[in-house]
Amino acid sequence: MIEDFDVSADWHVAAPYPFLAGLRRERPVFRSEHLGAYVLTRHADVRAAYGDPRRFSSAGSLTISRSLTRETREKLGEHGSFLSSFVANVDPPDHTRLRRSVSKAFTPRAVSALEHRFRELNEDLLDRVQPQGAADFVREIGHEPSIKLTARFIGVPEQDEAFVQAHVKDWFQLFLSPQPPERQLELADSFLTYLAYVDGLVADRAENPRDDFTSLMASLIGQELTHREVVELISTILLGGNDTVPNQLGNSVLRLLREKAWPVPPALVQNTVEECMRIDGASLGSFRYATTDISLHGVTIPAGALVLLSTDSAAHDETVFAEPERFLIGRPNADAHLVFGYGIHFCVGAALARLQLRTAIEVLGRRLPALRLADRPISYRRSIVGRGLAALHVEW
Ligand code: HEM
Repeated sequence: MIEDFDVSADWHVAAPYPFLAGLRRERPVFRSEHLGAYVLTRHADVRAAYGDPRRFSSAGSLTISRSLTRETREKLGEHGSFLSSFVANVDPPDHTRLRRSVSKAFTPRAVSALEHRFRELNEDLLDRVQPQGAADFVREIGHEPSIKLTARFIGVPEQDEAFVQAHVKDWFQLFLSPQPPERQLELADSFLTYLAYVDGLVADRAENPRDDFTSLMASLIGQELTHREVVELISTILLGGNDTVPNQLGNSVLRLLREKAWPVPPALVQNTVEECMRIDGASLGSFRYATTDISLHGVTIPAGALVLLSTDSAAHDETVFAEPERFLIGRPNADAHLVFGYGIHFCVGAALARLQLRTAIEVLGRRLPALRLADRPISYRRSIVGRGLAALHVEW
């Protein structure tokens, strides 16, 4: 019997479902010593907590930088609390103002205008990779189109894409996953270099606006946004776009191949994408701080406590999804998962993420209809809040 979460163990990301089912049934408000947080696992409780930002605050919820050493903090100086004004990490009224600004760039029209480009990026990549007959899906197929699309959306010039990609990875490690002291210092160097780059990009677009996200946000500096907020927004959206969508795509392709559901008929792609997100979500949940004592199911979560809203568990809740461990392409309520969150912080990039997932599955199915798993072990990256494969070897 597993007694607590364990980020260092393979099952934590790969197969937590029997453990989560036990928590939903018997300990719906679970105190995890390992995570240092209370964990909500029932769909109704997770949704209600997302919908109650007064009692479940987002302020500081993303910043796991508590693990940074004094030396690293000194090196980072004023940037030691990076992310402190990122939209997902603040409460109203700041959140309302930031969200209004960011949403201007994610209109339905702006998002659908990116579809053609994303399709082209996938076709170009497959022109190069298809003759190989085999690949590591994660390294050679899954990431490139999303990285290039996000770079284009933000306004990062093509020649800087590789630089940005390398540094985004480093800052993610520095702020969102615990690291040994020596490694922290290296990552901090990389992060400061990256910050200087984004700073330069913002300054350039403020002077020479173009048709991109950075120009739109730079035009709001001094009115709705500060310079620092814009730099945080851009660097974090580069992460959101570079990593989450490719992770979800890898999880989805693995599921579809294992279930012998490849290729997906175009008319079924939309619901299939939802069912893939439900059953193998790229996000495991969101953290919140209790602003007051909260009593739920006989447990009192004390004011100030960290709380994990486990969307991964909510998506497998048997009271909402019949036979939750079965993969059903035609599941009528597949999109009732909470993988994009819910309420005021609902993922602002959800429509763009869905568009990418649908387009990629459709193009890959048409170009590589004989795709199959190679006989190699499957492993996941270790993370508290994300599910992504370390490698996925395929043949066609
Ligand atoms: C499958 C891919 C994605 C998943 C699973 C995902 C998941 C999430 C989740 C769970 C939240 C809520 C966080 C919270 O409540 O604490 C969120 C918020 C957010 N996401 Fe995504 N996301 C994805 C793709 C994207 C993309 C492509 C972008 C941008 C290009 C993006 C930008 C954002 C932003 C800016 C927020 C903060 C919104 C706010 O606080 O108001 N995401 N995302």
